[in-house]
Amino acid sequence: MLSVNNLFSHKPRVLIVDDIPTNIDLIRMQLHSADYTFESANNGIDALEKVRSWKPDLILLDLMMPGISGYEVCKTIKNDKEMRFIPVIVITALQEIDDKLKAIDMGADDFLIKPFNKVELATRIRSLLRLKALYDDLDTSENILFSLAKAIEAKDPYTRGHSERVARYSRMIAKGLSLTEHEQEHIWRGALLHDIGKIGIVETILHKAGPLNEEEMEHVRQHPIKGYDICSPLKSLAPCLCVIKNHHERFDGCGHPDKLECEHIPLMARIASVADAFDAMTTNRPYRQGMVFEQALQILDREKETGQWDPRLVTEFVKIMRNAV
Ligand SMILES: [Fe+2]
Repeated sequence: MLSVNNLFSHKPRVLIVDDIPTNIDLIRMQLHSADYTFESANNGIDALEKVRSWKPDLILLDLMMPGISGYEVCKTIKNDKEMRFIPVIVITALQEIDDKLKAIDMGADDFLIKPFNKVELATRIRSLLRLKALYDDLDTSENILFSLAKAIEAKDPYTRGHSERVARYSRMIAKGLSLTEHEQEHIWRGALLHDIGKIGIVETILHKAGPLNEEEMEHVRQHPIKGYDICSPLKSLAPCLCVIKNHHERFDGCGHPDKLECEHIPLMARIASVADAFDAMTTNRPYRQGMVFEQALQILDREKETGQWDPRLVTEFVKIMRNAV
């Protein structure tokens, strides 16, 4: 069977957190045959500091410690975007089922009760390290797409930073509508990738200074579908795909590619469409200067009933932007 070490580009890093040094030594002894790198922490604050700076691949966490308890450490890790994919095995002498449930509630990935069996410890660690390697792979694939999206924009000084701004505006609207943190995250990632399909558009057309003819327009209109095709193999991006595919739909049903109408257009795509338009209006183009924010907001507000956007979202966006500046 393939060793778990082969799944990593480095020796897997295991952080052992326990306030009693002999417990740490005992675990290290039990795992001495595994080819891991170890680090330890004697309290919650030190543990969180080492998780941030040393970036372990797995954490063995004692629950009962003075100061910040293992529960709190676990909760902090699992609520943090950067750290939440690091598997946490809680180790404790507590036998109570309630303690186990509480730790699992805090997001612990596994649970071992002392004294534990050496083989069981090694097996559970291997199994969770495999999971961590999968997360890392996924993260790499996503990051390649984000970098690609950035690289496409960077070629053109007029679009540089466009997706990041659209992502920021989109998230502001999502927050204003009280969408959940998860939904805000999906829209943020979808907006970052919304124009990635432009990689499949002929550059001379993409960067043409003058107006496009009908044939060229039709070619450019393919970019949402091309973007969807690029991103859809990655299951982790599934919640964001509607932004990529449907950000050029119009509220009156005259957009593309699906000619969806009103609420049939996914909410996240409707939001990104407003943000996209605002950024286009406020940034320079080869043939015109970008407008100042207030002028663009006035135009959006005036034209919100023309059928391009969801009027409710335009109202929300104008309100948010005026409050923000
Ligand atoms: Fe687009």
